[in-house]
Parts: sequence; structure tokens; C-alpha cells
Amino acid sequence: MSAQPETPPRRPIRELPDELVSQIAAGEVIERPASVVRELVDNALDAGARQVTVRLLAGGTRLVSVEDDGAGIAPGELAIALKRHATSKIASLSDLEAVGTMGFRGEALAAIASVSELSLLSRVEGEATAFLLEARTGELRPAARAVGTTVEVKELFFSTPARRKFLKTDATELAHCIEAVRRHALAWPQAGFAIWHEGKLVEQWRPTPARATRIADVLGKDFIDQSVAVDAQAGPLRVTGHAGLPDAARSRADQQFAYVNGRYVRDKVIGHAVRSAYEDVLHGQRQPVYVLAIDIDPAQVDVNVHPTKVEVRFRDGRAVHQAVRHAVENALATPRAGQGTGQGPFAAAADPWAQDTRPGPGGFAPPQVPDAAAPPRWSQPSIHFAAREDLPGQPVSDLGLLWQPGVAPAAPGAPRPGLSAPLPDGDWPLGRALAQLQGVYILAENAQGLVVVDMHAAHERIVYEKLKAQAGDDATQAIASQPLLIPATFAATPQEIATAESSAQALQLLGLDIAPLSARTLAVRAVPTTLAQGDAVELARSVLAELAQHDASTVIQRARNELLATMACHGAVRANRRLTLDEMNALLRQMEQTERSDQCNHGRPTWRQLSLRELDALFLRGR
Ligand SMILES: Nc1ncnc2c1ncn2[C@@H]1O[C@H](COP(=O)(O)OP(=O)(O)O)[C@@H](O)[C@H]1O
Ligand SMILES: [Mg+2]
Repeated sequence: MSAQPETPPRRPIRELPDELVSQIAAGEVIERPASVVRELVDNALDAGARQVTVRLLAGGTRLVSVEDDGAGIAPGELAIALKRHATSKIASLSDLEAVGTMGFRGEALAAIASVSELSLLSRVEGEATAFLLEARTGELRPAARAVGTTVEVKELFFSTPARRKFLKTDATELAHCIEAVRRHALAWPQAGFAIWHEGKLVEQWRPTPARATRIADVLGKDFIDQSVAVDAQAGPLRVTGHAGLPDAARSRADQQFAYVNGRYVRDKVIGHAVRSAYEDVLHGQRQPVYVLAIDIDPAQVDVNVHPTKVEVRFRDGRAVHQAVRHAVENALATPRAGQGTGQGPFAAAADPWAQDTRPGPGGFAPPQVPDAAAPPRWSQPSIHFAAREDLPGQPVSDLGLLWQPGVAPAAPGAPRPGLSAPLPDGDWPLGRALAQLQGVYILAENAQGLVVVDMHAAHERIVYEKLKAQAGDDATQAIASQPLLIPATFAATPQEIATAESSAQALQLLGLDIAPLSARTLAVRAVPTTLAQGDAVELARSVLAELAQHDASTVIQRARNELLATMACHGAVRANRRLTLDEMNALLRQMEQTERSDQCNHGRPTWRQLSLRELDALFLRGR
């Protein structure tokens, strides 16, 4: 039985009444009280406000009021401001193409007024009084107010109960409202912001010329302490802000703020660019934190692609992607070790010696810069590392790669690591090695106190960066390879043999020569020079396993770094290998000169600082 589709009755075409059009528009733009906050604060900032005060009742559902000290609206224009598509911000298509204000669509006030009780109170310079306009009644009357504007929005969605039902608890709506102001506040440090809820001040950010100060005020001082400044120019494009250290990453993406010409955006191009900048230092599901402002010629970006303008379209998305990625990558690449700053929970908030005025008796004196003529202190370590003969591990010469001449980019004027020149204090952010602990950690002494280094993690990063540098940027350059005197053979699975054959070229680019010797045997004939000391068979097996998961033709482009990381892991010094002090010092020096050396290839920290102050605290010393 098939029912005939029923032809709907023909209805006449009619123009929708203005009010309904606005309500439909409101459906797109005004989702909840926070959307009202966003639109009204946009307007305040567009009007040049230097102080913006937001007052809320019941999470904004009963009242959102935004008060500013901007230019105001002339009495004769108050009614026009509430009309659909009425705006003072653009007048022509060419204006639209180069729009520099937050607003330009002229629909926010009309949309909000269609789903609430809205009033506009405003005064412009030169008028003796302010004027108040009630949207519902159209009544206009004089009122008292300084120059500026107050927009009051009461009983949001009172006439559209279906929408009202979608609102969450007052506490949740309040949180969204605060978030909306935060987004503005981070981009507009010169303006002051205050948020009141139910008569109580819940947030206040004072005007400041420095964005870093504002970021610290809004997101906490930790955010600044645990981030690096980003400032890069790429042609007409500028990227500034702060990118969180890998250590500061979070499980949720709740501290990622991106701005295009001062407008908060959630943009895929920017998001992806930042993500890829962290690729190398942040693994797994961790979410980086950042506040990044992209300033670009307004003509290069279309902001009119989304009703709430939270999405934008770049004329040259590739250029933006590259600029953002490089800006963040470069900022993150500089090892903090090389800057002499500590990191993580043990890091002192400030260099303890910089302002330490601990008085004489009982306190430590700051370490003296050793006299150049004096014997190098580190050649006579006061602590002897446990020379446990029963420790497994290869002879120390396996670490020869640590000081292959010319491999490490030596800092100008820096003494060669591993030589018995005195180490002046302060020149070595990671200090001088004292001992090895349990075959896992290197203990070192610097001006701040004790440095603890995860030997394997640190070395892994150094080897990885070295391999990447050898492989170059274009992914067609082969890594320097060294033939083995005696090829290493191993019994291989059919899968391994198939991969070795089909990926011969990829292997060659990776500095490996692996060829079948028989139907069941593979021979490793050459390995990367940098990894020459490692276990060739283990290396070959893990690389083959990884290659098998990829399509050989794309592997070099997309998975190269992963492969190099795997290789680095095999090449890096193993736990339980005994190092001499020279070797430890060499490792520390290499860390200082290696990009991204604060994290291992898996995003974990490679070193920690335990300051003297923290040691003192542990022993209840002083204070
Ligand atoms: N706080 C304010 N201060 C000064 N003028 C305002 C303010 N809010 C709104 N206006 C005026 O009302 C107009 C309409 O606002 P709106 O509907 O948000 O559209 P848009 O911001 O897209 O222009 C604005 O163009 C502006 O001229
Ligand atoms: Mg607006």
C-alpha cells in the first residue's frame, strides 16, 4: 500500500514582518545571555570606550546591562540604531571589504530588541542631557548620564519560551558571560572592564598599556610565567602574544585565544597552525594554551562569513598558517635552559640571587665566580657518583656522538664541552655536572641551586633534533648514513621483508640500508651516522614496523618526524648507562644549544630546577 504524497496547499508569498525577521536573525546571533554581552561589549569598544561595565542578574537572563564611556549615540539616532541593518560603521561595499570595527552588520541591537526588553540610554559630547529610548514602546525621554552609552537588556527570550528553555542554570550562563568579557579583555588591555553579578563585583581588570599584564590579570600570573612571548612579522602579517610552554598544556582546550585584528575567532587555519607548532613538543591529547593576535590588512580577511563573526576567511590561508606556525614554533624552540630560566614546579619565581638579600650568618653566600687561575671546581667533584660496577650498560665510548666535533652548534665563545677548561658560573644555565643518580638522572649545580636532568629524555631530544637538522626541510635530503663494517642480520617476518622492499627509498632517506638476504632474513647494511652506536637490529625493526603503518609514498612528508623520533629513542643513551662527568657536562652543554631541549620527544620535561631556596625550605633552613 503506497500512500500518495500529499500536495501541500498552496499559500501566498508574503513579506515577513520586520519583528519576525529580527527574531529569525536573533536565532542566529543571540543564543544566550553571553551573546548579548558579546554584542554589547563589541559596540562599546567600537565606540572607543575606555571603561566597560557589565551588570548581570540571574546569569544575564533577567538583566544584561553594558555601560561605557564611548562616543555615545545622538538623540536623533537612537531609534535608528535599533533598526535592522542600521549601522554607523560601514556605508559601502568597499567599507565592508576593509572593515576595522567589531560590528558592521547593523543587526545586533535589532535582534536583541526583538527577543527582550531593551532600552538605550546615551549621551554625546555637547548635549546637555542624555536620552533614554525604550525599544518596546518607542518612548524617548531625557535622562541623566555622562557621555557614553548604557544598553539594558531585560528578560531575554521572554517572548520565545522555546528558546528560553535551552538556557542552562544561572551559574552556567554567568560563566559564559564572564568568558565573553574575558575574550574582549585579553585583546583590549587599554580598556578597563568590570563585571557585576547580583550587585557583587565578580571580575575587574584595570586598563594597562601592556598585554602581558592584562593576560596575567585575566588568566593568572602562571600563564605568563609558563609561556613564551611570540612576536613575528611575515610580510604584512604580524603575530604577537604568548604561547604556553608544553608543561602548561591542559587536558581541555579552554585557554586558547586567537584574535584577528582584535576580534576573537575560532578559526581552523589558526588552530591547526598552532597545533602543528606544538607537534614536536606536545604529544597525546594535551591542549596547548595561548593568546595570539594576528594583525593583518583588513582587506586580506573576510569577516562576513558567520553571523556572530567568530569565523573568518583569509584570502591567503596558507600564508597565515605558515606565519602563525613559524611564529609559535620559533618562540617555543629556544630552550629555556639556554635562557637561564628554570621551569616547572621547582622553578623559582625569580632568580633567587637577583634579589636575595639574606643577611650573613646562617645564610649561604651566593656562589663565587671561580677565579680563572683556580683549578676547575668541577674536575674535583665533592660528591662521587656511585661507581656501581654491577650496573649493566655499554661502555661510555658509546656516547661518543655527544661530542662529535662540529656536530653541536657551539655558542660563540663557548668553551668546547668535555675539555677541562674552567666553567665560569652563570655561563652554563644547566650548570656543572656533579653526579649520576641511579643511572637515570644527572645532578648538576648552577647558580640557582640543583638541576636534575632526565638523561635519556634529554639525549633523545638532542639526537632527534640532530636527525631533523640533517634531514633538512625539503624531505628529499637523505640523512647522513654510515655503512656497518659487518651487516647486522636478523630473522624477519614476511611483513618486515615486504616493507623493506617496498620502502627502500624511504629507508634510504632515513639513512638506513636494509635489504633481504634470504627469504627470511634481513640485513642492515647502513645506519644513520648519528645512531651508529646503537643497536642496528632494534632500530631497523622499529622503523619497519612504523613504515608498515604508512603508505610509503606519503610517509616521508607526513610521518618523517615521527620516524626520526622513533630512531632517536633508539639512539639515545639508555638508563643505567654510566656516564663520566665529562660526558654529563657535554650532555648539559648540548641541551643548552639544542632547540626544544626542555622537552623530550614525547613532550615530557627533560630537566627541573630545584632552587637553593627550595632546598632551604626542605631543611627548614633560614626563615
Ligand atoms: N555602545 C554604543 N556606543 C555608541 N554607539 C552605539 C553603541 N551601541 C550601538 N551603537 C550604534 O548603533 C549602531 C547599531 O549597532 P548594532 O546593531 O550592534 O550594529 P553594528 O555594531 O553592526 O553597527 C552602531 O552602528 C552604532 O552606531
Ligand atoms: Mg554591534
